[in-house]
Amino acid sequence: MKNTLKLTLIAALLLAVSCTCRDENLWLKNAIDTSVSQLLSQAVELEGPGEMPRSIWVGYDLDFLGWQLDQDPAIFRDSLRKQCAPELLGKLRTCDIYNWTSGFFPGSLWYAYELTGNKELLPYAKDYTNILFPISSYTETHDLGFMIECSYGNALRLSPADTIKSVIVNTADNLCSRFDSNIGAIRSWDFGPWNFPVIIDNMMNLDLLFEANRLTGDNKYLDVARRHADKTMANHFREDHTSWHVVSYNNDGTVQCRQTFQGKNDDSAWARGQAWGVYGYTACYRQFKDEKYLNFACAIADMIMSRVTTQDGVPYWDYDAPASDKTPRDASAAAVTACALFELGGFVQDGQKYYDYAEKLLRSLAGPDYLAEPGTNCGFVLKHSVGSLHHGSEIDTPLNYADYYFLEAIKRYMALKGLTYKTL
Ligand code: GLY
Repeated sequence: MKNTLKLTLIAALLLAVSCTCRDENLWLKNAIDTSVSQLLSQAVELEGPGEMPRSIWVGYDLDFLGWQLDQDPAIFRDSLRKQCAPELLGKLRTCDIYNWTSGFFPGSLWYAYELTGNKELLPYAKDYTNILFPISSYTETHDLGFMIECSYGNALRLSPADTIKSVIVNTADNLCSRFDSNIGAIRSWDFGPWNFPVIIDNMMNLDLLFEANRLTGDNKYLDVARRHADKTMANHFREDHTSWHVVSYNNDGTVQCRQTFQGKNDDSAWARGQAWGVYGYTACYRQFKDEKYLNFACAIADMIMSRVTTQDGVPYWDYDAPASDKTPRDASAAAVTACALFELGGFVQDGQKYYDYAEKLLRSLAGPDYLAEPGTNCGFVLKHSVGSLHHGSEIDTPLNYADYYFLEAIKRYMALKGLTYKTL
């Protein structure tokens, strides 16, 4: 009798503990379930045409932009995008496969599938990945890493097929074809007034080269990646570890100019640029195990944590933007930063501060201020990002890459906590 009572008490205690754990993780389950239903709704709606969801069409107010950029609006009026047609406002903005963001939607489908095992997602993940095949022979941008690593790179992990390897390796070769050995960097853009523009975002493309090295054993990919990372480290960063957005080089490798393209001004700290930097150098440390990359990533992370002024940690679109409750946030910068800091935290002794900060960002993004209500937001998972305020483009709107890195951050968080979807 006594034993039966004891067993009953233990069972009740275990049940209570498991219920508490489940309650504690409800926010995470809600974020994942919302992501799955949103992504499926986009996949179904778009079926067929070879377009990817990118954002929601929004307009802009010239005086507001002038205030945010601290400039007379007349100065940048010429560089603004045309206002979007009124009938498009609030509607889904898609992109074709040659757009730099084309890999994120298939990538999000892969992550959602990986997180939940929901088989409904799988054919869509495959189909939207496969339509990117022509990118494996495209050479006109540095964004090849984003496009192919997020799509085919995840496909290789989650649904390996013989054809994937050649797509990744061909694309990596094409990325290497943009490397100039005299200059020591991969050229970012083929447009604009610059001699040889390299943007901080380009650090994100190195993961594709690491993957090509794993698949082939060929160290040429690592040589290019290392030289690009070193050149960027030497020239893209200020004393305080904030980075310029664009550095253009002369043919002898000296700096032609340092500017912004999407930030507030040339000397400001554009929020997503800082996120690309910390993510990129954390990945370099993962690959090369060279302490200089680790120390650099920590310095950028510390800078970000000290520069954030918002309560919830989700930064304004530029750390130097005039701050008010009207200043747009950039959820995409928060999501990329969270991914980087979850990884960085595992590389250093005092990693807890990075884990804590990343968790704070993730919880903010998964809360009602940023997470969409299912069935709204044109199927995007997160609200409130900024594409390019400078160009009057995608201001305070969802972005497909905010969703992608949000799911990646969830994946990294769950791995750290030993959580699986079934245990949530
Ligand atoms: N790579 C372009 C951007 O971050 O907006």
